[in-house]
Amino acid sequence: MEFVDPPPAPKPKEKEPTEKFHKVLIKPGEERQIKIQKAQVRDVQEILDLVNGYAAADIMLPRGPQYLYENIRDFIIASDYKVPVYAMMETREELHLIVACGSLHVLWDDIAEIRALAIHPDYQHLGLGKKLVNHLIDDARLLGIKRVYTFTLTEDFFRTVGFKRQKREELPAKMWGECSRCPKFFKCDEVGMVKVL
Ligand SMILES: CC(C)(COP(=O)(O)OP(=O)(O)OC[C@H]1O[C@@H](n2cnc3c(N)ncnc32)[C@H](O)[C@@H]1OP(=O)(O)O)[C@@H](O)C(=O)NCCC(=O)NCCS
Repeated sequence: MEFVDPPPAPKPKEKEPTEKFHKVLIKPGEERQIKIQKAQVRDVQEILDLVNGYAAADIMLPRGPQYLYENIRDFIIASDYKVPVYAMMETREELHLIVACGSLHVLWDDIAEIRALAIHPDYQHLGLGKKLVNHLIDDARLLGIKRVYTFTLTEDFFRTVGFKRQKREELPAKMWGECSRCPKFFKCDEVGMVKVL
């Protein structure tokens, strides 16, 4: 019997961060009407589109519907009320484009993690990321959390909201729970950051 080498692994395709995002047709200078609220189960698909749009470019950890449904209480969303998406059949309530999301996941008695923070590419640099993080921090305070952590590629952004980089060996063990499921497990390029409340 002959041993045959497997064929070489295919080269990864060039990744395009915006491939999955809804296109928003906003004229320059046009005012946006953005509201932040708790997420509901009906928002799951749109949140997945947002997060996995960035995950496709290795900017974020990909998420699936099971994670979203199980952790929907962790999430807040921002919607643009100038961009209607569809109306509910029963109530005729108009739903609007979700342009940002973020979540706070409690890990232990005094620590929590900010996860899945994503702002639609057409809505970045408007202060929305900062607003969402501050909402999540307020939530953490209400819960009695003392330290909020995050893993991120955007260290400079998190610095603007009061986070400081922390050495890997100083991160609490609870922070590593998700790493074994992360596609970047062997080549992690994210930094751990903490904000003491
Ligand atoms: C990083 C991200 C959340 C920032 O959100 P945003 O709404 O564009 O940020 P804001 O407008 O609130 O900016 C707040 C501050 O951070 C800075 N900032 C924003 N994006 C930044 C980035 N990518 N890198 C460094 N600094 C950034 C801004 O200069 C701003 O500072 P200022 O208020 O002093 O001018 C957003 O770009 C995003 O969703 N990126 C893709 C996904 C991602 O990287 N998520 C991070 C968690 S893994």
